[in-house]
Amino acid sequence: MKDPVIISVGGGKGGVGKSTITTNIGAVLTTRGFSVGYIDADLGGANLHLCLGIKRPRTGLQDYIKGRYKHLNEVAVQTVIPNTWLISGASDILELANPNFAQKQKIINNLKKMDADYILVDLGAGSDYHITDFYAAFPFGIVVIDGFPTSVENAYAFLKNGIIRGLVHLFRGNKELQNRIRNFSDPVSKKGFSTVDQLIGNLEKDYTNEVTIIRQWLQSRKTFLILNMVKSGEDIRIGTRFAELVKKYLSIPLHYIGYIIYSPEIRKSIRAMHPFILNPQNSKTKECFVAVTQNLVKVTQNPYLNP
Ligand SMILES: Nc1ncnc2c1ncn2[C@@H]1O[C@H](COP(=O)(O)OP(=O)(O)O)[C@@H](O)[C@H]1O
Ligand SMILES: [Mg+2]
Repeated sequence: MKDPVIISVGGGKGGVGKSTITTNIGAVLTTRGFSVGYIDADLGGANLHLCLGIKRPRTGLQDYIKGRYKHLNEVAVQTVIPNTWLISGASDILELANPNFAQKQKIINNLKKMDADYILVDLGAGSDYHITDFYAAFPFGIVVIDGFPTSVENAYAFLKNGIIRGLVHLFRGNKELQNRIRNFSDPVSKKGFSTVDQLIGNLEKDYTNEVTIIRQWLQSRKTFLILNMVKSGEDIRIGTRFAELVKKYLSIPLHYIGYIIYSPEIRKSIRAMHPFILNPQNSKTKECFVAVTQNLVKVTQNPYLNP
């Protein structure tokens, strides 16, 4: 059995369409013959099950975290999309909204053993470490923005915090280095180091080997940008500008893999608890999902390729 390709779907802001995009990309992947697993890591605001046509999931992540089931695959349920399963994040237990690091690590490690060609990890809104740890854990990540300035800012903060979390985890036990990484600040406040390149430059003298590890980690990551709810050509340019900003300040390439147009049909399908892409009619919106997924497949099946 091949390891699954695990992709997180985040972006900082709520309501930009992370769960919608997760649902429909997964559905397009199944039409290409891939099996797909979904995991709702939006603990506290979980609703991916509704997008996937499940009113009340029988089991979910809470049962695994609480130890009611030993194996992650025991808490997965089938969805209305053939050839997919879901591990739901829905829970009545408030404390599970923010699992601790060990619990998260256990989920992350065991997710890799699950049976699927692709696993899509739907993240909650925000950019604190409860969320960004999931971005940092997997080499592939999708960032969704909707073209509004707030979504661009939130996505930037999400990526920056995700990178810092990832780098800090590389050096567990080295408190001094971890603190120097944490002090890396954003370009707006002008405190500390404004770019990841500057941070690396500053560390180079004291931490030669570690800087090599940092560089490798940054280069090993593939982050994809999707622009959602696009209404005009200007919206599309926001995506290109955002990718440039991320490259300049955060030193990770952000691959723009396409946009999804604004479509009232999507809203309707969510209300009907029916994944949009399963509608038999062809539409421009459907074409967008297919194009984005094709780009994603190209890169994830051959990581040396850029879209
Ligand atoms: N391209 C789109 N066009 C129109 N409505 C959309 C689009 N993408 C998502 N939506 C709607 O926006 C709302 C928020 O989407 P959702 O996927 O739940 O966002 P998130 O997971 O980021 O919080 C939903 O009602 C959904 O139907
Ligand atoms: Mg969501």
